Amino acid sequence: MSTTDAIAHPNQPALDPLLAWLRHARESSPIHHDETQRIWQLFGHADIFRVLSDPATFSSDMSRFIPPQEDFELFSRGNFVRMDPPMHRKLRDLVSQAFTPRMVSGLAPRIAALTSELLDGVGDAERFDLVGSLAYPLPVIVIAELLGIPVADRDSFRRWADSLLSREDTGALPDEAMMNRMAPTLREMNDYLLSHIRQRRARPTDDLIGKLVCAEVDGHRLEDEEIVGFVGLLLIAGHITTTALLGNAVLCLDENPAAADELRADPSAIPAAIEEVLRYRPPFPRLARRTTTEVELGGKRIPADQILILWVVSANRDSAQFEDPDRFNIHRKPNPHLSFGYSIHFCLGAPLARLEAKIALEILLDRYRSIAVARDGQREFFSPTAMISARRLPVDVQAARPKAKGEGRRGLVSA
Ligand code: HEM
Repeated sequence: MSTTDAIAHPNQPALDPLLAWLRHARESSPIHHDETQRIWQLFGHADIFRVLSDPATFSSDMSRFIPPQEDFELFSRGNFVRMDPPMHRKLRDLVSQAFTPRMVSGLAPRIAALTSELLDGVGDAERFDLVGSLAYPLPVIVIAELLGIPVADRDSFRRWADSLLSREDTGALPDEAMMNRMAPTLREMNDYLLSHIRQRRARPTDDLIGKLVCAEVDGHRLEDEEIVGFVGLLLIAGHITTTALLGNAVLCLDENPAAADELRADPSAIPAAIEEVLRYRPPFPRLARRTTTEVELGGKRIPADQILILWVVSANRDSAQFEDPDRFNIHRKPNPHLSFGYSIHFCLGAPLARLEAKIALEILLDRYRSIAVARDGQREFFSPTAMISARRLPVDVQAARPKAKGEGRRGLVSA
């Protein structure tokens, strides 16, 4: 397959121009100062890796660039992805135990049962929306159960996530108009979470919110308002990204049917294939940082207090790091993609996202002998500068032949 063939994404047309622009930028000016937006855009793997690796020089706290807004401030108080050490470490440690590979692997049977239940819900239909039927509800049920909030409210979570992510603009950080647009959603979400947190305070439970209300940092209990952003981060980050990953896996396999056949024959290759899906279609196309001091990067002097936009989707296609980067290759090894970030902010939910994707893909490939994205179906995608993800993904499926007695399910659902 030539590079030009490989870069065509019939499944998500808007991705192609973005990738073409990023490739041009990477090759012509890998660190670019955008005077109009007053930001620095980074496109190469080595530079982005360096920025992510050095949180003292490249801060995650962007609050000074975001117009003051009450609802956003409440949400930000516990949102540790936007914090620097030492507070970041303290808050991250509080929830880390819930997300260790060992803790997460204990969820495998529940994830498998949920996946099967959701696919049973589709019945014998030969066409269904993969996002609505599986990729959205699976991670949202898992995270809601972990947090201890009612799964029945999941339509609200989707509405909030959709509204917070629906920005079609290419602006890097929210401006005043955008903050005002987001405010009612944030207010509704904050109020909802606060009421659950207060209930737990009155009657502690064994779920994550129950544990957070009892947790202490430096000898102090967290305030209810601090837990809001904390839980909001887990709720939103904990589902939309995994929804994206599942949809992206189906899109990549649809474009690469030989890889799908290989995974059906040998499910032990699924984890490596998931890493390649993450590299090829990272749910978050870009991250942001702020310089704390003047710094030299890629031969350019960047003053203090500048916004850096790190194009992860571009780093993942950098030919200085990846051989034949526009080719989807499930055998790529090593695969140092940056889709989960790197260093102190490395995605806390990565073990959970990987496990959910592995189990869901194993079951999908086992249950259906073919899964094809419906070309005439109504596919919908987020704007790829905001999120590389399908919103709606109709697929045509053909059920696998029934298994002979004792044939088993080829090592399914091992954590
Ligand atoms: C495919 C799925 C996922 C992707 C691609 C993803 C991506 C990321 C990225 C890129 C970061 C780093 C952000 C930065 O450095 O600025 C991050 C952080 C984080 N993610 Fe994920 N994520 C995924 C799933 C999850 C899940 C399932 C959860 C929770 C259950 C989660 C919770 C978090 C949290 C709490 C952080 C903040 C970590 C910190 O600042 O120390 N993520 N994620």
